[in-house]
Amino acid sequence: MYCVKKVTEDLTWVGANDRRLSMFEGVYSVPNGVSYNSYLLLDEKTVLFDTVDKSVSEQFMENVEHVLSGRRLDYVVIQHMEPDHSATLAELLRRRPETTVVCNKMIADMIKQFFNLDITPRALIVKEGDTLSTGRHNLTFIAAPMVHWPEVMVTYDTVDKILFSADAFGTFGALNGAIFADEVDFDRDYMDEARRYYTTIVGKYGAQVQSLLKKASGIEISLICPLHGFVWRRNLDSFINKYLLWSSYTPEESGVVIAYASIYGNTANAAEVLSAYLFDRGVHTVVYDVSVTPASDIIAACFRFSHIVFAAPTYNSGIFVTMEAFLHDLAAHSLQNRTVAFIQNGSWAPTSGKQMRAIVEPLRNTTVLNGLISVKSALKPEQAAELAALADTIAADIAEKAALRKQKEEAEAVENAPALPCGIDNNAMFKLSYGLYVLTARSGEKDNGCIINTAVQLTDSPKTLTIAVNKANFTEQMIRESGEFNLSVLTDAVPMSVISRFGFQSGRDCSKFEGCDCVRRSVNGIRYIPKYTNAYISCKVLEARDHGTHTLFVAEVTEAVVLDKSAESVTYERYLSEIKPKTAPVCSTVQKGYVCKICGYVYEGETLPADFVCPLCKHGAADFEPIG
Ligand code: FEO
Repeated sequence: MYCVKKVTEDLTWVGANDRRLSMFEGVYSVPNGVSYNSYLLLDEKTVLFDTVDKSVSEQFMENVEHVLSGRRLDYVVIQHMEPDHSATLAELLRRRPETTVVCNKMIADMIKQFFNLDITPRALIVKEGDTLSTGRHNLTFIAAPMVHWPEVMVTYDTVDKILFSADAFGTFGALNGAIFADEVDFDRDYMDEARRYYTTIVGKYGAQVQSLLKKASGIEISLICPLHGFVWRRNLDSFINKYLLWSSYTPEESGVVIAYASIYGNTANAAEVLSAYLFDRGVHTVVYDVSVTPASDIIAACFRFSHIVFAAPTYNSGIFVTMEAFLHDLAAHSLQNRTVAFIQNGSWAPTSGKQMRAIVEPLRNTTVLNGLISVKSALKPEQAAELAALADTIAADIAEKAALRKQKEEAEAVENAPALPCGIDNNAMFKLSYGLYVLTARSGEKDNGCIINTAVQLTDSPKTLTIAVNKANFTEQMIRESGEFNLSVLTDAVPMSVISRFGFQSGRDCSKFEGCDCVRRSVNGIRYIPKYTNAYISCKVLEARDHGTHTLFVAEVTEAVVLDKSAESVTYERYLSEIKPKTAPVCSTVQKGYVCKICGYVYEGETLPADFVCPLCKHGAADFEPIG
């Protein structure tokens, strides 16, 4: 029966899993199997992206027939001619004579090489940047030579932002029911195999992968559909970042791979002792016997970690066979930027260290640590210090490189940090600590007062202070006229009624002291507030400076009296959070408008003028918020 998975509304995975294959490409073990992915797009035209390996041909054909459901197959896009993807192409074309093959010239040539089939009459030959409209979708073809073969191209659907990435972004391992990487614990269960897949398939072609990544960085990608493994629809950046590291041969993490070959266990013993010493120094190590562990696992680990120690006996005057094979395999993958060290063994003429170095050192940016450890037959306790010294050297090198990396990352973070927003958040202004005061004045026979929160001591000797008063306040006008004022410091216990009396009505329209028992006057003859206050301060104006909406008064203190020793002064923050009623008195019939966050005054209308000033508390438009 067919076995397919929906990728998007009109794109379906029609590939298949292979769990019988033991060695991918005849050389790489795949203990968890492998998937051969093919995708079928149902648009006005139908498009199949690649075919599959011949081992799963039957399942694939059934999947394609099922999804097409009687429709013709208009196009098959061939992105890569390696037989794990193209082996079933000839059979597909035989069954579907109506299908046009979309490919580049090199792929057409390879089709002839593999199948002795000239597809020219039914081919649409494309090159870099060519496009194909299939109805709703538009496909753009992008060359990706040497990712993994020279003919490879990838395809970008500009409508749904899907990158059909050929071998890139693939993973070893069959799909266990899921199709998206975010449906499984990818980091835990698949990342090692993804790394091993990368290193074995395209590890040698870092520059070419970088070139593809550069092209990909210029397009918006929502989905990556590779030819092996999972489809990526989330956390794309995390996987792309892995590719950036791998393709630039940058270690993913600090740590040491100890790869050894051993005939009778003595070289293995040296590797184990070094591993223990490194662990004691806080260095993460992974140890492999190259005669046992498949080379692809060890090569993948070498791509992952920053340091490698190779340990091998001398054998037939050369390097022990399994280590020699491994080193040539590693070198063929063009590993770069690693720090290495060597341990050799030999019962009469140890030379494997020098010979291992001759293979590894030419790799680009390889740093060889001094201190070749030479074992004669078996490690002796007298050599413990030598191994300890090597462990010290490696640990110090790792620490130094980590520090440099951190420094670089921090510098880059500063360089790449987004510009700080340069707007003004009014809430930040509220973080300044203010008190609340009743500012009183007398001009002629008129007594008046208002609420302010902007009183600050300026100097101690002489004692001066500043106050900023909104010019819309009648009190401001009276202070300019009289040159004197009183400041009554409100306490924590102040009720809203006191704030409302002095803050939310205008002295031009009413007498703020009417019905109030605040009848006391200070020496200067100006009223002060004796209740809910802990002090009053009388002042004489020295200077009045116009600051647009406010006048800044600098004043000399002429009298200062403590009214309550124990009562705490109220802060503006406490007023906002605890004294001011939580629900602004918004009229229920008002549908459109703005409410003052300070006093609850409601402005009715669609748009609040930018220069609007609250008629009650005199705060500006920035302190209003929309109703509803
Ligand atoms: Fe999955 Fe290069 O083939």
